[in-house]
Amino acid sequence: MAGARIVLGVSGGIAAYKAVLLLRLLREAGHAVRVVPTVSALEFVGRATWEALSGEPVHTSVFEGTLDVEHVSLGRSADLVVVAPATADLLARAAGGRADDLLTATLLTATCPVLMAPAMHTEMWLHPATVANVALLRSRGVHVLDPESGRLTGADSGPGRLPEPDTLAAAALALLAGPVADPRTVLDLAGRTVVVTAGGTREPVDPVRFLGNRSSGRQGIAIARAAAARGAHVRLIVGEISVATPDGVVVERVGTALEMRDAVRRAALGAEVVVMAAAVADFRPVHAPEAKIKKAPGQPPEPIVLVENPDILAELVADPPDPQTLVVGFAAETGDSEGTVLDHGRAKARRKGANLLAVNAVGEGRGFGDVANEVTVLDAAGCVVTSIRGTKDQVAHGLLDVVAARLTARSADASDPVSEPRTTILR
Ligand code: PMT
Repeated sequence: MAGARIVLGVSGGIAAYKAVLLLRLLREAGHAVRVVPTVSALEFVGRATWEALSGEPVHTSVFEGTLDVEHVSLGRSADLVVVAPATADLLARAAGGRADDLLTATLLTATCPVLMAPAMHTEMWLHPATVANVALLRSRGVHVLDPESGRLTGADSGPGRLPEPDTLAAAALALLAGPVADPRTVLDLAGRTVVVTAGGTREPVDPVRFLGNRSSGRQGIAIARAAAARGAHVRLIVGEISVATPDGVVVERVGTALEMRDAVRRAALGAEVVVMAAAVADFRPVHAPEAKIKKAPGQPPEPIVLVENPDILAELVADPPDPQTLVVGFAAETGDSEGTVLDHGRAKARRKGANLLAVNAVGEGRGFGDVANEVTVLDAAGCVVTSIRGTKDQVAHGLLDVVAARLTARSADASDPVSEPRTTILR
């Protein structure tokens, strides 16, 4: 949604400085932002800063802006309310339905999505009162981010830190974009770039015929949709598919494995995650004549000579555009006399070296098309991480749970080696 009206509530915590950058990001995204700080928030960042950067008046009390009846009109006209940071006190007042300042009155009149980003000391965040207030707000449909874990105001460290402004902005913009209809959806991929491939490639035999496969694109598309709903910027690269692509993702269409390889390498630049759910042809005809191959009565056809296609996934692992990119492959497998589906999956996991490999049993009525699905997720050593069974949307979310947990653990390690892994950020 371009040109939305956002109310940015700021309550009184040291992390209020991050809300200044959040305001900037929301304004740069083309939205009008009305800042509503609490009185104590102004102890941390002054009115002049908010007014100058938002270009709008800044009031804290219901007795200001009375001509416009602001304590009602701000909430009613907003497309989104974001509260960052949300202190323990603000959460308690919001949960209690208080209207003792302009921000809480606005929260009571808002009918649009509401996003709250708590920030406080660990003890306050873990206190049963705060836990109950957050649960109550979430049960009413408020999107409450989990705070990050890491260095807090003093020398202490733990859960309670406000996520960075770009993560907050991504979560806010995902809510504005609309795919996060369900407040229980976890926005744990907010701000991440995720590349997904889906569908089957087609390798031309001649201008009429091709070598293809049975992939419908459903599983990859479900992953793209789920990643977008969790706040990611999604680039979806599709071959041949038999379902529509989701809104809110950037779609690139390709035909052959070579085209998919080029598209993946370009899209993977700057991506945190690449998920290869496409069924890529392992071989292509060496030569595809420009004219249709004619049937000669009584003559056997010329054999089609095949050449191996590049293995896009293995190349990505061996030479990643960014060494931090988390690479997730799929393995479409059938059991045979040499081993079970899992045996073959394990061997493939070790051979391809992707961070994660979702082993997908395929065959008649399994894996391809409009069917329930079941995958076993392996790590690069072939060890089982988890098994997921359900609709393709459920499998997509289950896989992204694992992806998000890995990204979170990496970020926590990078930002603060002594801290616990960050918790997922929105429920
Ligand atoms: O599309 P649907 O109808 O919903 O079906 C879903 C699915 C069964 C196609 C999907 O869940 C799946 O398993 N996709 C992977 C299919 C496949 O090509 O598997 P593979 O075992 O041949 O390849 C292993 C991995 O290497 C895959 O991530 C594949 O994208 C990748 N690959 C394969 C060959 C190649 N030349 N380059 C590759 O990158």
